[in-house]
Amino acid sequence: MSKPTSLALVLAAGQGTRMKSDQPKVLHEVAGQPMLVHVMESARESGLSDAALVMAPGMDAVKTIAQDIYPESRTFIQEKQLGTAHAVLAARQVLDGFSGNVIILYGDTPLIRPQTISFILGAIESGADLAVLGFEARNPTGYGRLITDASGALCAVREEKDASTEERGITLCNSGIFAFKGAILLGLLDKIGTDNANNEYYLTDAVELARQDGLKAAIVQCAEEEVMGVNSKVQLAAAEAELQERLRIQMMEDGVTLIAPETVFLSKDTKLGKDVVVEQNVVFGTGVTVEEGARIRAFSYLEGAHVGKGAIVGPYARLRPGADLGSEVRIGNFVEVKNARLEDGAKANHLAYVGDAHVGANANIGAGTITCNYDGFEKHRTEIGQGAFVGSNTALVAPVKIGDGVYIGSGSVISKDVPADALVVTRGPLEQRDGWAAKVRARRARDQGNKK
Ligand code: UD1
Ligand code: MG
Repeated sequence: MSKPTSLALVLAAGQGTRMKSDQPKVLHEVAGQPMLVHVMESARESGLSDAALVMAPGMDAVKTIAQDIYPESRTFIQEKQLGTAHAVLAARQVLDGFSGNVIILYGDTPLIRPQTISFILGAIESGADLAVLGFEARNPTGYGRLITDASGALCAVREEKDASTEERGITLCNSGIFAFKGAILLGLLDKIGTDNANNEYYLTDAVELARQDGLKAAIVQCAEEEVMGVNSKVQLAAAEAELQERLRIQMMEDGVTLIAPETVFLSKDTKLGKDVVVEQNVVFGTGVTVEEGARIRAFSYLEGAHVGKGAIVGPYARLRPGADLGSEVRIGNFVEVKNARLEDGAKANHLAYVGDAHVGANANIGAGTITCNYDGFEKHRTEIGQGAFVGSNTALVAPVKIGDGVYIGSGSVISKDVPADALVVTRGPLEQRDGWAAKVRARRARDQGNKK
């Protein structure tokens, strides 16, 4: 018989009242992704092939996100939030008869690492019937304490409100994350009552019950930062800061230079190649890939963009979704690119908008060039051929095609297609009146003298 798969059971039914938000708590984002995505992706990366989710009524958006990551995942509704054991029991259908291992994760604990999930499951695989993820708390107030016997074995988890003064002195705390042998889980849960200060069904009671049955409970420890729970906007910002720190370190370890790492903001899915240099104060929204050796200069904002090898972007550039830069492309200050491919070596160095466009290799887009892609009703495309030269302050009125090697004179408004290698320019004739300015100045000076 093949080994039964392990299951991640994610609890996400908490209302998150302290977030003071209309959104379900687990949909609040850190590093550009909902907290729930972080938890479920960690579960997937740790090798867990199956997941289930417990949520409160009316959280359909939560279900959609969970199924993006685990298409087969089942969701269960916990009608009333009567405690963590009650939440797990909401998924009874998936647990009944399940003989693999079950890891219980929290949708509002987004920093859990895949390695830690593997580690706690490893404790079960090496013989424990259940394992709890514990941590040494700097300030244990509010957490359940891990009660151990003289040999260091776990006997119970005591919630703060139910703990004696002596027990409150314990700093080894419960992260809330548990792993169980699936075969024993329901048996334990069905014995849990509500005889506690909160009148709730505590999942943590499973530890004492397991011990009474002669089962073995293990403690696995991790850093406090990893099990930081988010209950308020202040804690959301703390989790963001922690995750940014982690992502920056990972980038640098992978060969990216961050000149001032504390000023660079990354998304969970940001991909930066080897020898990429990121200058100060750069923001990476979701969906950005930067190839090897490119440089992102200070104060640039990128989202949904691809930057080719050796390209230079910024300072003060904005790459919006669909910006796709080939290698050695140059995008300079105050240039905005949206839904546009710039082939290798193309340049737009100053003050331009390139949207819904294709720009051929080595084309040069002058300062102040605008692709006029919107006619007030619809968006239209601009095609610029390779090696074309678009003079400064050109308006390209889309839809329009500029052939290869075309030369556009500065200040032109181009509203029809231009064949390859042509020169086009649209300008009023230049008028020159010799001595006019000097005469005007002299007259003004005379008039002002008369007034005095
Ligand atoms: C829980 C633990 C405590 C641990 C702490 C770590 C219990 C009884 N206590 O306490 O030992 O130190 O987490 O942060 O387990 N949830 C539901 N439905 C419910 C209740 C909770 O889905 O009915 C979910 C919440 O959304 C949350 C998680 O379970 O993600 C934990 O619930 P919470 O109420 O925060 O438990 P704590 O009192 O913090
Ligand atoms: Mg909590």
